[in-house]
Amino acid sequence: MCGIVAYVGERSAAEVVVDGLRRLEYRGYDSSGVVVSPGAGADLRVVKRAGKLAALEGALVGHVLDGHLALGHTRWATHGRPSDANAHPHLSEDGRLAVIHNGIIENYLPLREALTASGHVFESETDSEVLVHLIEHDFAGDLAGAMRSALRQVLGAYALVAMHSDRDEVVAARATSPLVIGLGDGEQWLASDVPALLPYTRRVVYLLDGDVAVMTRAGVHITDLDGAIVDRPVEIIDWDAEAAEKGGYEHFMLKEIDEQPTVLQQTLGGRFRPDGLDVDLDLALDPTAIDRVVITAAGTASYAGMVGATMIESLARLSTTVEVASELRYRDPVMDARTLVIAVSQSGETIDTLEAVREAKRRGARTLAVLNVKGSSLSREVDDVLFVHAGPEIGVASTKAYMAMLAAFALLAIRLGRGRGTLSDERVAELVAGLRGLPHAVEEALATRDRVRVLAERMASARSALFLGRGVNVATAFEGALKLKEISYVHAEAYPMGEMKHGPIALIEPSVPVVAIATASARYDKTVANLQEVRARDGIVIAVASEGDEVIASHADEVIYVPRVMELLSPLVNVVPLQLLAYETALALGRDVDQPRNLAKSVTVE
Ligand code: F6R
Repeated sequence: MCGIVAYVGERSAAEVVVDGLRRLEYRGYDSSGVVVSPGAGADLRVVKRAGKLAALEGALVGHVLDGHLALGHTRWATHGRPSDANAHPHLSEDGRLAVIHNGIIENYLPLREALTASGHVFESETDSEVLVHLIEHDFAGDLAGAMRSALRQVLGAYALVAMHSDRDEVVAARATSPLVIGLGDGEQWLASDVPALLPYTRRVVYLLDGDVAVMTRAGVHITDLDGAIVDRPVEIIDWDAEAAEKGGYEHFMLKEIDEQPTVLQQTLGGRFRPDGLDVDLDLALDPTAIDRVVITAAGTASYAGMVGATMIESLARLSTTVEVASELRYRDPVMDARTLVIAVSQSGETIDTLEAVREAKRRGARTLAVLNVKGSSLSREVDDVLFVHAGPEIGVASTKAYMAMLAAFALLAIRLGRGRGTLSDERVAELVAGLRGLPHAVEEALATRDRVRVLAERMASARSALFLGRGVNVATAFEGALKLKEISYVHAEAYPMGEMKHGPIALIEPSVPVVAIATASARYDKTVANLQEVRARDGIVIAVASEGDEVIASHADEVIYVPRVMELLSPLVNVVPLQLLAYETALALGRDVDQPRNLAKSVTVE
């Protein structure tokens, strides 16, 4: 949500910043802007435009934006619609101070009224603009000091970055919204996310809440809001730059779908004990010290949590519930020191998930994150982290991170089961063999693409679609429906298959295809009976079935065959054709796959 890039150094700052914004496009935005300091006290030069980056780049043609210090921003509208005026950077009235901001200033209205009463003139409808007026008001040659004093007056979330034409520096502050500094020799970068830095440096410093950083060519100086020096470690990013490039693919989403066999190897790699009878996850958690598990997350990560809950209940015999973080954080949940709260997240920056974890900690629960991004806020707030090692996920629609989360949950369920004595050697050996076979099975599931492409034509003309699954594959149905909605905008609903008769059956008609997960399972017969009920009402059934199932074709209109794997691990294979179905349907409808309308990759505001 919103992208921030800043640069100070010898290069053309405008070029570096626009390049960085391009690399952050996946975060979701609807306007963008850039400001450059020509130096020697000259007025700042700003260009901003509503719409995609191409509009900004078009507007930049013909502008001389020479300078070695620049800020850039992509805005995802909260207060005020996407327009040139509401786009960031915001300039002070004298044109010498520029500010960009991610987050929400909750008390902006009284601040705006007070500033207006004292003669400040506002040019936008944004909450962010109060920040430039507050800093301008307090500026007397010390930009960091003015920013600290402005921040003492605001409530809310921010990643805030400013520069002044008199100062050869970028000043940044953080509360809730992420910021990471990239370190170079004689040059520094700043961004809201690591992919913007990858072409330039691997040495980074993550800012924490309350930090104020001053970045010059010579280096970085970090203080707290009172001006006391704070020390933040330099960390090395192990993602390679190509991982965040399209690498010949038309879309990041397809590249990331195709990467899933490799991702599974990364998630599972080095985690099986040599005897194959347990896994090593490097957790401080004592599996016997917990009585129940609460899994919390948002969107796709919450569906990974649903699969995880089934795995943990089944293998570790721990009562496990799943609750979306935006609800859990505001409830009055019953939790204590014997409750394990597992937060699942790709980005580690989803505000609802972070707040749910904070609520759980206030109630004394033990916390663990199933997480992709190292250095993210979530990684610092939990007792234990299980990294899923999916690599950078750029496509807005999550695919490979979901796959990695499922594999990580399987490992966690085995560890908990082993630690609690609920799993026999034979069962573990069977699970480990199943997990080791997954990269190959997922590779084979990717070969469904041609078949799926044909079915996508039907989906593209559908009024709506129903996704049904049972047991551990209820989550697969939810994930398939979400993927389709997100990137193709075809309406879809998901239900546990047994619930169909309790309402959704009324929707069934030929223009509403029913995608049913009908792979081998202990409830296969019930599934077949449900498919019959759909077809008896002229419904069109697209079944995802196990290879070798010769019966299913007589119960479905179309079948997508996937490799046969053990039921508990089947969501990892079954989701693949559903990801491809969403992708191909979106293509057939000419949608913007990597940047679907209204969506942001990591949702850092409520
Ligand atoms: C869907 C999707 C979202 C995210 C959700 C949580 O494709 O990507 O539903 O899963 O916003 O994000 P993270 O996992 O970053 O906490």
